[in-house]
Amino acid sequence: MKKVLILPGDGIGPEIVAEADKVLSRVAELHGLDIERDYGLIGGASIDEHGIPLTEDTLERARGSDAVLLGAVGGYRWESLDISVRPEKGLLGLRAGLDLFANLRPAILYPQLAEASTLRPEVVAGLDIMIVRELTGGIYFGQPRGIRTLDNGERQGFNTLVYSESEIERIGRVAFETAQRRQGRLCSVDKANVLECTELWREVMTRLSAEYPDVTLSHMYVDNAAMQLVRAPKQFDVMVTTNMFGDILSDCASMLTGSIGMLPSASLNANGQGMYEPIHGSAPDIAGRGIANPLATILSVAMMLRHSLDAAGAAEAIERAVSRVLDQGLRTADIHSPGTQKVSTAEMGAAVVAALG
Ligand code: IPM
Ligand code: MG
Repeated sequence: MKKVLILPGDGIGPEIVAEADKVLSRVAELHGLDIERDYGLIGGASIDEHGIPLTEDTLERARGSDAVLLGAVGGYRWESLDISVRPEKGLLGLRAGLDLFANLRPAILYPQLAEASTLRPEVVAGLDIMIVRELTGGIYFGQPRGIRTLDNGERQGFNTLVYSESEIERIGRVAFETAQRRQGRLCSVDKANVLECTELWREVMTRLSAEYPDVTLSHMYVDNAAMQLVRAPKQFDVMVTTNMFGDILSDCASMLTGSIGMLPSASLNANGQGMYEPIHGSAPDIAGRGIANPLATILSVAMMLRHSLDAAGAAEAIERAVSRVLDQGLRTADIHSPGTQKVSTAEMGAAVVAALG
């Protein structure tokens, strides 16, 4: 039996997770999978109930699960709280607490959505990029950090970008192995011309490449990478980068596919345990209206089945079902275009369940 902890979170989180949960039930039934589900609070929902965004109990239950399925965290209501207790800290606490250092963010363009991209169809047709983002180090977690008052009374904010060789090496290995299973091309993104920390990053990636002769490694500065992603995204197969650069580049890559509402993610530790979430946020502006796109969360369930629940066949079934509903012309508002049928969050979820068979 496999255990999954479900943390819907805030904003549109509960709406999209409810649909993904139905898909998980159905696929488990069809493929004879024995999955025990447990539910918990994260982010603002946890703050409202317990005063903190992630309780020790939730973290313990996450540690005891094979996988965590998460919706999204954050919202206007909690924005005035101190940064140390904001909803986002719950997410960062889970990532750190489970040592989920490897974040896989695929950016795949479904051919049915070529028209939904803001880029010309010929630029994005056939797009299939995997961004491997380091998730538990770098400037997000580096010490010292804070806001201090200088002798002259002026305040100064400071954060630290820090990576040890072993941290770079372990994310590098995940990226090289990912590239081996794909087209064998890995682009490491850094700012080695300015930041010593990423000079070391480049050096370690280069050293590692000797162990993966079947992978072609290239390096790119992050500013250029952002530009190339928009100019000619199909040049990329796998990209590997730091926590903050990966945060930025994955949002950028997501829009190539038509909507940030389509992209799932997996965050893995060394034991194959993982947390699965859509890369979009809690979208408080549309929360409660039943119009959010549940497909990124549904596709996150597919990643969960593949990477943590040892059920690749079920994962493929979900991916095929998603493709089928797109073929049927069903679209939530974010990917809607003339000639397609606009559906709600729940209608989209039901259509995927039906398409599973
Ligand atoms: C993401 C998000 C998070 C991040 C936020 C919500 C803390 O933007 O998963 O990309 O910055 O990592
Ligand atoms: Mg982000």
